[in-house]
Amino acid sequence: MYLRLLLFAVIAGDIFVHSQLSVLSGLEDAALTYTGLAAKYGHPATTYKVTTEDGYILTLFRHPGNTSRPVLLVHGNTPTSDCFIDRGKGSLAITLAGLGYDVWAINIRGTRYSRSHVTLNPDTQPKQFFNYSFYEEAVYDLSATIDRVLTETAQKKLTVVSHSVGTTLLYVLGSEKPEYNDKINVGISLAPIAFLKNVRGYAGIILPYLLEITSLFADLGIEEVFSYEKTGTLLRLICDAQPFGYEVCVKIVLFGALGVDSNGFEMAYTPTFFGHYPGGSTRKIFQHLGQVYKRDKFANFDYGEDKNLQLYGTSEPPDFDLSKVTMKTALFVGEEDYLGTVKDAERLNQSLPNVVYYQVMPYKNFSHTDFVWGRQMAQNLFPYLLPVIDKYT
Ligand SMILES: *[C@@H]1O[C@H](CO)[C@@H](O)[C@H](O)[C@H]1NC(C)=O
Ligand SMILES: *[C@@H]1O[C@H](CO)[C@@H](O)[C@H](O)[C@H]1NC(C)=O
Ligand SMILES: *[C@@H]1O[C@H](CO)[C@@H](O)[C@H](O)[C@H]1NC(C)=O
Ligand SMILES: *[C@@H]1O[C@H](CO)[C@@H](O)[C@H](O)[C@H]1NC(C)=O
Repeated sequence: MYLRLLLFAVIAGDIFVHSQLSVLSGLEDAALTYTGLAAKYGHPATTYKVTTEDGYILTLFRHPGNTSRPVLLVHGNTPTSDCFIDRGKGSLAITLAGLGYDVWAINIRGTRYSRSHVTLNPDTQPKQFFNYSFYEEAVYDLSATIDRVLTETAQKKLTVVSHSVGTTLLYVLGSEKPEYNDKINVGISLAPIAFLKNVRGYAGIILPYLLEITSLFADLGIEEVFSYEKTGTLLRLICDAQPFGYEVCVKIVLFGALGVDSNGFEMAYTPTFFGHYPGGSTRKIFQHLGQVYKRDKFANFDYGEDKNLQLYGTSEPPDFDLSKVTMKTALFVGEEDYLGTVKDAERLNQSLPNVVYYQVMPYKNFSHTDFVWGRQMAQNLFPYLLPVIDKYT
């Protein structure tokens, strides 16, 4: 009897210590920056600064590898490059670095590591600094970063792996600056976003009201949204305490908006996720996404008739011409992804001229978050993704 009690106490104590340890290790990863995580997981990163044609100063991280095999990772709207590494050993950045690729990770303008400009101050001049959508992110940030990687590696081409609105940047760049198609071995789209007609979940409920919401934000003078400092600090306050944070922030909000997969996103990972998320975005990006939904066209930003005439020479904003996106494209789609739905991906597949690979993930519960933050990427994603990277790089 006593022996059993003792045994029980030992096991319970052991489980307690282990759960605390996993929480503690989670806390450590939550507090580390990209370079801190890179060092901890055995593939240290170096830091580059890229100044865009319009003056934004971007931070670019690199895990040096075989320079003839450069791979650029492009994050989506609201996170930072951290999304590719905060799963540690199971992350895409560490996995690719381990395979010897020369791995680069962009940080789009205005996000945590790239909140800087040669003349504009984001805190005192938010109207000017945050005056951009995914169009500017593509034609200025992505193009400048691609050129920098090609210069540093002395290569003519690189491979791009993008997630969510990061995929949008590839389509905008390929159509607006078609010369970049020749600089890309393959443009890999995880959770592709171009058309938004079939968005589901909370995201689908909010989309029809997005233009009203962003116009309210404009009236209030709010240009920066989902910032690491302000929104992030508040979210960490609410979402770090478990199990409350997991039940509310993850299961209700995140899963409700992006797709449900509790196997892919577990409670212990929650503090790490919110240690890095969000990383920053703009009201204007959400306004542009709202326009894409409402007009059901993948098109330039709609400034209203007068300004459209002045900027584009037409009263309606011109469509992004997807037939010009001639780079090899690989599309990876999750059936449980509420944002990048199978139906919208099929339409994109029909519109792009050079899709060399199209994969609906076999794991049925594959959601929007599983492509970069998934606990089981090694089993559910990499066996499909890595051969495509290897084949074309
Ligand atoms: C780098 O990659 C190229 C192309 O895959 C390969 O031919 C070369 O052997 C690699 N170099 C090293 C040092 O691994
Ligand atoms: C924002 O950008 C648009 C388009 O480039 C420009 O016409 C407008 O003047 C800019 N607004 C501010 C406040 O900088
Ligand atoms: C993708 O598009 C190509 C070319 O139109 C077509 O042959 C293929 O069946 C499409 N794949 C899917 C899954 O829709
Ligand atoms: C998928 O999700 C459903 C409902 O959330 C769950 O019952 C099922 O076990 C999940 N399947 C896998 C393979 O995780």
